[in-house]
Amino acid sequence: MKRTFEVDSLEYPFKDHWLPYRDGYIHYIDEGTGPTVLLLHGNPTWSYLYRKVVKELHGECRLVAMDYPGFGMSKAPSRYGFTPQEQSDAVTEVIRCLDLKDFVLVVQDWGGPIGFNYAVQNRDNLRGIVLMNTWAWPATLLAMKLFSIAMGGWPLGYWLQTRRNFFAKVIVPHGIHHSENVTESLRHAYSAPFPTPASRKPTWVFPRHIRKARLWLANIEAGLHKLSDLPTQILWGTKDSAGFPQDEMAKWQRHLPLNETEILDDASHYVQEDRPDRVAASIRRVLERT
Ligand code: BEZ
Repeated sequence: MKRTFEVDSLEYPFKDHWLPYRDGYIHYIDEGTGPTVLLLHGNPTWSYLYRKVVKELHGECRLVAMDYPGFGMSKAPSRYGFTPQEQSDAVTEVIRCLDLKDFVLVVQDWGGPIGFNYAVQNRDNLRGIVLMNTWAWPATLLAMKLFSIAMGGWPLGYWLQTRRNFFAKVIVPHGIHHSENVTESLRHAYSAPFPTPASRKPTWVFPRHIRKARLWLANIEAGLHKLSDLPTQILWGTKDSAGFPQDEMAKWQRHLPLNETEILDDASHYVQEDRPDRVAASIRRVLERT
């Protein structure tokens, strides 16, 4: 298996790994040794999102970051729907095949529902949690429902994503708070996985499922109490344009009482881009606490 696009090798200097997945494959990076940390991305990002965190923690732990089928360098199997439920199955398969044990789960955006779906069913395999600007319950906020209708709706959302590559080309670069970090190589890294209208469908399915996956999300929320004894670091970027106010953060604090929370006023939805140093520090801290 080989890369379908190139990225700046200084930015993303990692060895590629490939796992066959049905008639597709999953691309992941697996860097370093020590306690295991699994890094899950959201829409429309990929393991590239964690590059600065991986570099910062090199030599301290084993860092595994995968690309969901249809994202980054992974290839979706035939008849794949790109739903968060299917993406969570793909994550479960990676955990099983790599035999990841007693790991720290790090999530942001759709990585939250996808990772927490695994977590509530496999509490004993987790060592701790780091979460950033995410949720794992049915949307109650009007802003989030409207976002889902606009970005994951029909025909406007479908046209924006498949014809304009709107998430990758507009939402991500404009969403990063430290705009001086938005370089041509970053823009390329986030848009290159989606060269054709068909390849962009996964970026439309995610916002659509804020509404469509209501029941699945409700089930995850119902299981969150099983994680209440896990050390958790909450990192919350307040400059989030995607509709994650601090009420959502407070909800996490109630669900996961062993949390330590850090509010970041210079981070957006993409905390890993804006404050990779604090993401790394949170991972260090959760490892220290366990
Ligand atoms: C998405 O589906 O892409 C999305 C969900 C929540 C916040 C931001 C984006």
